Amino acid sequence: MKIAIMLGTRPEIIKMSPIIRECERLRLEYFILHTGQHYSYSMDRVFFEQLKLPQPRYNLDVGSGSHAEQTGKVLIGTEQALLKEHPDVLLVEGDTNTVLGGALAAAKLHIKVGHVEAGLRSYDRAMPEEVNRVLTDHCSDVLFAPTEQAQQILLKEGIPAEKIFVTGNTIVDAVHHAYLVEKHTRVLEELGLKKHEYFLATLHRQENVDDPYRFRDILRGLDALNKKYDLPVIYPVHPRSLKKLEEFQLDAPGVTLVDPLDFIGFLELEQNARVVLTDSGGVQEETCVLGTPCVTLRTSTERPETLAVGSNLLAGTIPESIVECASVMCANKKAWGNPFGDGTAGKQIVQILRDVV
Ligand code: UD1
Ligand code: UDP
Repeated sequence: MKIAIMLGTRPEIIKMSPIIRECERLRLEYFILHTGQHYSYSMDRVFFEQLKLPQPRYNLDVGSGSHAEQTGKVLIGTEQALLKEHPDVLLVEGDTNTVLGGALAAAKLHIKVGHVEAGLRSYDRAMPEEVNRVLTDHCSDVLFAPTEQAQQILLKEGIPAEKIFVTGNTIVDAVHHAYLVEKHTRVLEELGLKKHEYFLATLHRQENVDDPYRFRDILRGLDALNKKYDLPVIYPVHPRSLKKLEEFQLDAPGVTLVDPLDFIGFLELEQNARVVLTDSGGVQEETCVLGTPCVTLRTSTERPETLAVGSNLLAGTIPESIVECASVMCANKKAWGNPFGDGTAGKQIVQILRDVV
């Protein structure tokens, strides 16, 4: 069996890493197909270096652009690579334009598609990710649902039960592995932070940062949090958000902007934050796994398991609501179970592929 592992953005590199490691361990025939959707050092190469991942055999150099440009370039480039390589299965992870373009190219060539992190739904079609997830699930042949709730969503949408496998989320494997690589970094010292005496924020979703009023409101909320608790709010700024901060000329004196961090440094910041405020999908999961309270700066989430166990609260984007939810989570006792699996998702996914493809 020959496996094509597709990735293109920061979270895909991180969440595919356990599967890549398992393919290496078993010496399977596989290759990495990178679309180049993310390309800056801090969004791409740093993860290959830190996680010691092999180089991609292909980089499609898709880069930035409109949704149609990105998805179209991914489609064309993936088709060419697949025609050359003839893999038995193309694995995609998550809900980016890389995922949709890759899945569509493979499906049209009658190459099996395996979707890692299948069955997530925010039920908000204004999010580009929601369109990508639904379409990808429905053209996939093997669907790896992280939880039983995700499995139920797929079944309700009419996807045959024999195509769906509940494996947990590979983010748990990635977090466990990160601690094997490096237990402690110097990130707290470098940023002058004390454990549990700072807030951590990440914010990059199109619906939040491309809207000047919404982005401004969220920054006002973070600024008010800084004033209420007299604690630093650290925000590693995603390149999309940096561009928009400059374009809209926004500032938030109480928020400390820093460059995007490597994975292990970021995990350490997450683990030791009093509360994490985010619109990221992966960060909602990681905080749940690490035992750090999370406030999500959106009105919906495709990770409802985090709400159910009490690790996460939806605040939306109104400043008062952000401060209120962060205050509630500051008092949270951190006693929840991790609903995303036992850290063997990568191994299970590779075994299932060997059994069914
Ligand atoms: C994409 C995904 C989003 C995911 C995020 C992970 C889609 C529709 N969106 O959003 O679901 O949460 O990745 O981080 O696929 N840029 C750089 N360097 C880079 C990458 C991007 O400077 O390496 C800048 C460019 O100005 C670009 C902007 O960021 O226009 C947005 O990049 P893009 O890949 O379109 O979307 P993301 O916001 O990264
Ligand atoms: N992350 C990182 N450095 C940072 C911010 C985030 O390594 O400065 C990691 C984080 O640990 C998580 C992933 O990036 O695993 C989440 O990616 P992102 O928020 O960009 O995308 P999303 O999960 O929303 O699709």
